[in-house]
Parts: sequence; C-alpha cells; structure tokens
Amino acid sequence: MKTSGGSDAAKRRAGESAAEAVADGEVVGLGTGSTAAHAIRRLGDRVDAGLDVRGVATSFASRELAAERGVPLLDLDEAVGPDAPGIDVAIDGADQVAVGGEGDEPATGVGALIKGGGAAHAREKLVDAAADRFLVVADPSKEAPVLDRPVPVEVLPAGRTAVAEAVRAAGGEPTLRRAERKDGPVVTDNGNLVLDCAFGAIDDPDTLATTLATTPGVVEHGIFVGLADEVHVGTETGVRIAR
Ligand code: 5RP
Repeated sequence: MKTSGGSDAAKRRAGESAAEAVADGEVVGLGTGSTAAHAIRRLGDRVDAGLDVRGVATSFASRELAAERGVPLLDLDEAVGPDAPGIDVAIDGADQVAVGGEGDEPATGVGALIKGGGAAHAREKLVDAAADRFLVVADPSKEAPVLDRPVPVEVLPAGRTAVAEAVRAAGGEPTLRRAERKDGPVVTDNGNLVLDCAFGAIDDPDTLATTLATTPGVVEHGIFVGLADEVHVGTETGVRIAR
C-alpha cells in the first residue's frame, strides 16, 4: 500500500489510537491509505481478542486488508438504509487537514480535509459521511494552516476534457493522474479517471466544493467539509486528538 507524508511510526500511533476508540458491537467504516491501514490491522488484532465489529470498506485495498486480518465485512448497501445497522464510526486518513493559523482570526474551513491521494475519495466520502462519528487519522505532515494541495477530482472518462476546462475556468490547473509503474492513467475502483487540480491556497473550501460538485462529469471531489469529528494526529512520541 502506498505510503506518503510523515513517518510510519506516527501513522501507526494515529491509526491505532482511532482503532482503540471503537466499541464492541459497532459497524466501522474502513478508510484507505497507509494510516488507515494501521487502524484496520489494530481492529484485526482486537477481533482476534474477541471484539465484535463489522467493517465497511472504502476501497478494494481496504477490503482485502480487512479480510486478511479477520475483520468481518458488510457492503455499504447492507450497512445503511431501512432496517440496516448504520455505520457507527468511520476511520480514514487525509492528505491535508486545515488547522488554521496561529493567533489568526478563526479561519474559514478549519477541519476541512483534502482526500483522494489513493483515488478512493468517492467511496470514502460515501462511508465517512454516513458514519455517526468520523475519526481522521494523520501525521503532523498533513496539517496546514489552509488547504493548498491539489484537489483530486474523479471524473467520468468521457468528461475528462470538459471537466478540465471547467476547473481552469474556476481558477485551477488540472493534471491527469498517471499510474506510477504503468504507462497510462490511474483508473479508480469505479472505472473513472482522476484530475489533480491545483488551486493554490483554498481560503473557502465550502464554495470550491460546491463548484466542483455541480460540474457535470465530476463523480466526486476530494474536499471534505464539515465531516470530521475528531483528528487523531500521531507524533514521534504520542497522539494528539483534536475535536
Ligand atoms: C485515499 C486517501 C488517503 O486516506 C490519503 O491519501 C492519506 O493516505 P496516507 O495515510 O497513506 O498518507 O484519501 O484516497
């Protein structure tokens, strides 16, 4: 699984801290990425020790890891809807977390996230938004005063050029994501393409999220606003939890 950003020890502390917050009997959204993978492994250890949980995967990779570690799985369609148990808690990583500037006026968008480094943000947003509690797991390299990383935008293959034009009109610079070791574009678990869209500093993530969400051809974008309940930040020595 791809590892990016800070140290693996910090990611492990964050992931394990969130996994320890899961209670017996809960349905858990299983995020994607190297930090969320630590949470899945710890949940697997807790299942071995007798914890009763069921996981809802956000990607092929998180499903595979959960199955390998013995975490029982539900499909999203089995978890939500009438007579379904619902999702009690989701644990997921982030590529960037807006924490505001020190001593500044409260910044807009504090707690907003950029996700989609693993191209799984469409299913991640479905699961994270459906959960009663959403715990973000990150290392300090992910924290920033304002969001300024390129925003992953999943697009229908036929809409790739039209969406790229709309992104430029909105002040962004789109780049088609290419597979690292293959000669071709990244294809998501849903069969779509990803445009990484650089907008510079995103002072108003809510407005940009609405602009992208209402662009025809966009399947989902990686700005997550108003969803995170807690951020577990693993450091070299411990874990900080921001609520
Ligand atoms: C996948 C994601 C990941 O959660 C995000 O890329 C963070 O990954 P990592 O924990 O490996 O740094 O959004 O789509």
